[in-house]
Amino acid sequence: MGKITIAIDGYSSTGKSTIAKQLAKALGYIYVDTGAMYRAVTLFAMRNGFIGDDRKDVIGLVDSLERIELSFTYNDTLGFSEMYLNGVNVEKEIRTLEVSRFVSPVAEIEAVRLKLVAMQQIMGEKKGIVMDGRDIGTVVFPNAELKIFMNASPEKRASRRYKELLDRGEEVAYDDVLKNVQQRDDIDSSREFSPLRKAEDAIEFDNSDMGLEEQFERMYNFALRVIEKQ
Ligand code: DC
Repeated sequence: MGKITIAIDGYSSTGKSTIAKQLAKALGYIYVDTGAMYRAVTLFAMRNGFIGDDRKDVIGLVDSLERIELSFTYNDTLGFSEMYLNGVNVEKEIRTLEVSRFVSPVAEIEAVRLKLVAMQQIMGEKKGIVMDGRDIGTVVFPNAELKIFMNASPEKRASRRYKELLDRGEEVAYDDVLKNVQQRDDIDSSREFSPLRKAEDAIEFDNSDMGLEEQFERMYNFALRVIEKQ
């Protein structure tokens, strides 16, 4: 059976990475979290003073892009790949609400997108990959054999993310998380370069009222049906 490319896009905190990891594991495919790449560039931009409250130095960041080296290293214990920025594991640092606040303004910079999209396309050259993000089915892999577009109500998504942050020991307010989810939706959907939108041939999936098991069963069956046809 031939290997396929699975593109999973959708709004923030819709559980894209959860289902992408499950599918990759069940199919023996590589999983790539492209949001982690945009988050790592954002962390770099924050640390180097290119982005902050009332500050966005696009030229400075673009001029420094060649100093940013991104890589994924598989963690056997966790069962997925972790994000490295210039050789250092930044998996924990990139998941904070602070990084979430600045990631959308960084992700809308064309040169940032061009750099990351080119890397993502190389990672998927051999297929056998599950990639999640915002523009995977539209820009990165427009010919992906299976495209899924995930959605859920903003309140549902914010409460999932809120719980996740609390579990990680971050002190956050639910209202701030909801505001962040809504702001990212707005910026991600309205930006000029590769805005978040459903590819015409993507299967739309609303998991507001769906458990993880049912979601996995359904998606896995979609994937098997497509793979069988290869
Ligand atoms: O999936 P995530 O929430 O970790 O992504 C963080 C941000 O990165 C998201 O708000 C928009 C941006 N992003 C993007 O623009 N394109 C992608 N392919 C993935 C993420």
